[in-house]
Amino acid sequence: MSENWLDLAGKTIIVTGGSSGIGNAIVEELVAQNVNVINADLKSGEFKAKNLTFVQTDVTSPQAVEALVEQTVAKFGTIDGLVNNAGINLPRLLVDDKQPKGQYELTETAFNKMFAVNVKSVFLTSQAVGRILVHKHEGVIVNMSSEAGLEGSQGQSVYSATKGAINGFTRSWAKELGEYNVRVVGIAPGIMEATGLRTPSYEEALAYTRHKTVEQLRAGYKSTTTTPLGRSGHLSEVADLVCYYLSGRSSYITGVTTNVAGGKSRG
Ligand SMILES: NC(=O)c1ccc[n+]([C@@H]2O[C@H](COP(=O)([O-])OP(=O)(O)OC[C@H]3O[C@@H](n4cnc5c(N)ncnc54)[C@H](O)[C@@H]3O)[C@@H](O)[C@H]2O)c1
Repeated sequence: MSENWLDLAGKTIIVTGGSSGIGNAIVEELVAQNVNVINADLKSGEFKAKNLTFVQTDVTSPQAVEALVEQTVAKFGTIDGLVNNAGINLPRLLVDDKQPKGQYELTETAFNKMFAVNVKSVFLTSQAVGRILVHKHEGVIVNMSSEAGLEGSQGQSVYSATKGAINGFTRSWAKELGEYNVRVVGIAPGIMEATGLRTPSYEEALAYTRHKTVEQLRAGYKSTTTTPLGRSGHLSEVADLVCYYLSGRSSYITGVTTNVAGGKSRG
């Protein structure tokens, strides 16, 4: 992709959860576009570059988010964009008739954890960065949703609900911030190449909630019945859209969430 076409060089962009998976792919692509990238994650990633700054951040903590924004402005003078990518997924059943109150039945703890990381953090970072974008009358917020948030997903009801909440943020903040020339857009990936999220315990939990074996679950990753394009998505296919949305090339697009899911439309 031509660096000039996107014209992102010299911009300062915060990516949350940039040390692994999709976030790491976004960080790598933005670094290649000569963006000043700030990776806000609990742990630092393996990828290093001179225009990449790691700020250890728990995005569920208001104090940590405030410190992240202060440090970024102190170092780069401003912020041009935010990618709310950090997220977790704990598959759980609403009711497990085989093992009531077993390890895969939904608990308040699992509910609160998913809502803290996937929803509360997005409010905290978007407000802290949004104050700067509103003041300068320019900027973009990209929210990482999920195809599960658009369609619902067996065994992932709370995860789906958190992403549905994100879609509500995207639509509402686009309406609130449009007058300040700040755009808010969402991206909803489907089944992607393996990331840090797809751990063996995640696959075991999801297979259990769908009454399948892990092997049967894995077979679905490439099935045209699940995904019309018949393959998992490349992480770079999400990163490319993030770059486009952060650039002036998408200057009339706001308030929408785009499915990057190979045609998948069922959970
Ligand atoms: N992988 C998929 O198939 C898929 C599909 C749809 C949507 N998504 C979404 O994409 C995003 C990235 O997912 P991924 O698959 O790359 O996951 P991942 O586990 O590989 O990466 C998530 C990153 O977020 C960080 N993180 C978690 N909690 C944090 C916190 N409190 N503060 C700061 N950082 C924190 C982790 O340390 C990790 O580096 C998530 O929002 C996820 O819901 C992923």
